[in-house]
Amino acid sequence: MGTSTDRSFSGQSLSPESRCLRHDVTLDDGQPLVEGIAQSTTFARSGVGTDPTHQYSRVSNPSVATLERTLGSLENAPPAVCFGTGLGAETALLLSLLKSGDHVVCGRSVYGGTTRLLQQLLSELDIETTFVDSSNTDEVQIALRPTTRLIFVETPANPTLGITDIGAIAQIAKLAGVPLAVDNTFLTPVLQQPLDLGADISIYSTTKFIDGHSVALGGAIVSRDEQLLERFRFIRKCTGGIQAPFNAWLTSNGIKTLPLRVKAQSQSAEQIAQWLSEHEGVETVAHPSLLTGEQRRIADRQHLGGHGAVVTFSIKGGYEAGCAFVQQLRLCTLVEHVGSVETLITHPASMTHADVPRDERLQAGISDGTLRLSVGLEPAEELIADIEQALASVGAEYAPAVAEVCCG
Ligand SMILES: Cc1ncc(COP(=O)(O)O)c(C=O)c1O
Repeated sequence: MGTSTDRSFSGQSLSPESRCLRHDVTLDDGQPLVEGIAQSTTFARSGVGTDPTHQYSRVSNPSVATLERTLGSLENAPPAVCFGTGLGAETALLLSLLKSGDHVVCGRSVYGGTTRLLQQLLSELDIETTFVDSSNTDEVQIALRPTTRLIFVETPANPTLGITDIGAIAQIAKLAGVPLAVDNTFLTPVLQQPLDLGADISIYSTTKFIDGHSVALGGAIVSRDEQLLERFRFIRKCTGGIQAPFNAWLTSNGIKTLPLRVKAQSQSAEQIAQWLSEHEGVETVAHPSLLTGEQRRIADRQHLGGHGAVVTFSIKGGYEAGCAFVQQLRLCTLVEHVGSVETLITHPASMTHADVPRDERLQAGISDGTLRLSVGLEPAEELIADIEQALASVGAEYAPAVAEVCCG
């Protein structure tokens, strides 16, 4: 570990690209360009009664602190608080703000693990949740109770990709005196800035786009409220959920290309979504770039230079066609994950939602043939060709002329 001089020259004016490359820190003579890993559980003291910055890695660690500074800086906030996983961050958030008898208003289309945590674990602690369509501000307003202590939303929604107006929900939250937390995993701070839009807390699974290379689990909470940050750090110290130094180091290296990656991936996703929307073998396609009307206006206002890399679509032929389709793909890898440099695909009916009763799954907008594509860095034309051959081989009808127009 070198000893960087924190010159923090006008962090405010640096671009996300420069912040991800840590240009707010100037290196001393002979210092390595890539910071070393502080792979140590504990840190020496020069004598009794000294108070070094880092003492024990369950509380803080230099490699974790580096990632926390970068993530905070990306949202013009103090250093983030990092956790071992995204769900670890969510658990700490909930334990920080809620006690027995409290109530949460949560978007219905959030990550399934968030729903499970609230429905199956927090409920055992007598913490009740009302799930609402968070794109409908009236539903959020009506769900509030005197005991509500948190509003939690994810936008774009997972996997339906509907948009929640963060500013409108933030106003409702402020009037009610309740903090608003936004799961910004799908867009990252590069494409959406929840705190600037009025939210109190941004929360992330850094396992996804922020690491971007499928090598490190992680989670983070970002806020500009020092009291909240202090509480999150306290809960982390109590529960032991801090991120491992090696994972923080990997993520700090992965994040260097985050702005370039998510913008390129979003652009390809837009191209692929448009192509899918014109294909006869495809029943439905969801991507914010295909929205119209008010939802489109909100998306254009909230999103910064791209609508994200995730495209959800359903092919004709139901469950069997969905399974057969994913087996025919060559460039798109079948996994339960999003946000990697490689293009990934999930068939929720046979994978993430296999245990969910069919009628519940359909109600959540996930049909038998629904597929979630996380577009990577392969050229869009090659991905379209791969999807096209897989659609053809499952017997769906297709129109090559459309592909030529859209890919051109
Ligand atoms: C939107 C979102 N939030 C949170 C999580 C949980 O993150 P982790 O897997 O790092 O615990 C996920 C995981 O897929 C996710 O997609």
